[in-house]
Amino acid sequence: MPQSMRALVAGKVGEPTDVLRLESRPVPTPKAGQALIRVKATPIHASDLHVLRGRYGFSPKFPTVGGHMECVGRIEALGPDTEGPKIGERVVAVAVPAVPAVPGPHVAGTWQEYLVADTRRLLPIPDHLSDSSACQLAVNPLTALLLVTRELDVQPGEWLLQTAAGSTVGRLVIQLSRHLGIRTINVVRRRDAVEEIKALGGDEVICTEDEDLLQRVAEIAGPAGARKAIDCVAGHVGAQVSQALAPGGELVVYGALSTHRQADPAALTIPLQARSVIYETKAVRGFWLNRWFGTASPEDALRALSEVRSLVADEVLSIPQGQPFPLERFTEAISLAETPAHGTKPLFVFEDGRDKDDR
Ligand SMILES: NC(=O)c1ccc[n+]([C@@H]2O[C@H](COP(=O)([O-])OP(=O)(O)OC[C@H]3O[C@@H](n4cnc5c(N)ncnc54)[C@H](OP(=O)(O)O)[C@@H]3O)[C@@H](O)[C@H]2O)c1
Repeated sequence: MPQSMRALVAGKVGEPTDVLRLESRPVPTPKAGQALIRVKATPIHASDLHVLRGRYGFSPKFPTVGGHMECVGRIEALGPDTEGPKIGERVVAVAVPAVPAVPGPHVAGTWQEYLVADTRRLLPIPDHLSDSSACQLAVNPLTALLLVTRELDVQPGEWLLQTAAGSTVGRLVIQLSRHLGIRTINVVRRRDAVEEIKALGGDEVICTEDEDLLQRVAEIAGPAGARKAIDCVAGHVGAQVSQALAPGGELVVYGALSTHRQADPAALTIPLQARSVIYETKAVRGFWLNRWFGTASPEDALRALSEVRSLVADEVLSIPQGQPFPLERFTEAISLAETPAHGTKPLFVFEDGRDKDDR
């Protein structure tokens, strides 16, 4: 076992490409109940970049290793008196950082070669699932599953209205909805995306470049509007989605893509119509996977993750193949993560002679 490893570390809050440095750090030692994971692949999510810019739902203590939430790797060692997972087993480790008012599991950043994780939070991965799929299993597919089932309990035949339908979460929501018999109304911002979303199985697509969102939802779901919606754009689009809700309808906001790179506090809002919220009793609430992991029991979290693993293994959900980057090329990887219409997710991958075929 090497004594030191490479890690991508941010010294302070700032633009990720300005504040991140490749550093050498000691390989951590697992305590009782923990496993040492040799990381094989870990994605770059928009939320990872928000954390470094100081714009997310928590702020780590700097310097901090970048990346939070998910990675796939092999168990290299177990802490003292620790049983359960086997050395060499390939697992997904969920790394939720310390968030005020949200209890554990707290794990350091994922953009490093080794990390320690709670053994109760490790999900074994079958050989036929690639590293690319496995390292993206926890955040987006789990969010899609929880939003559609537990948060909104959307029933077969019901309409589900969603924004940024071309996002990874949006595509997974479409696939899951088809599987469950739910009909989707998909909002996209680019004309180019319309046919792609239809081909994926989206029942209806509204392109905000060409169409009036409210008018189209009324035409599709009826003049009252849609009863259930999810939004990850917020701002003006989020407000329009709230207006497109039927009386008594529910909107779950889980992202705020339109507020990215905004510094003006007024741009970080979702303007709601008070009369509509009161008299039509529309409900708008948030969803945050970090909070969900913090409050779900380890057993429940693993149960939900196993359900996602089965949906992916059974090809109900297909996770787009990520684009691999070594840690050294982080500037390029981060730039890809923020390029419009980038399609594929950048992943940091770590060479491991034994496992070249897993990718
Ligand atoms: N709350 C949670 O726990 C949770 C969990 C997972 C994800 N999320 C959030 O879910 C969102 C999607 O994540 P992802 O990883 O699926 O994203 P992604 O794959 O990187 O895709 C981003 C998508 O958003 C679209 N988009 C970007 N800015 C937009 C804007 N201003 N208006 C409309 N559309 C815009 C892009 O459209 P183009 O194709 O036109 O570029 C693209 O389709 C993010 O906000 C993420 O933080 C939240």
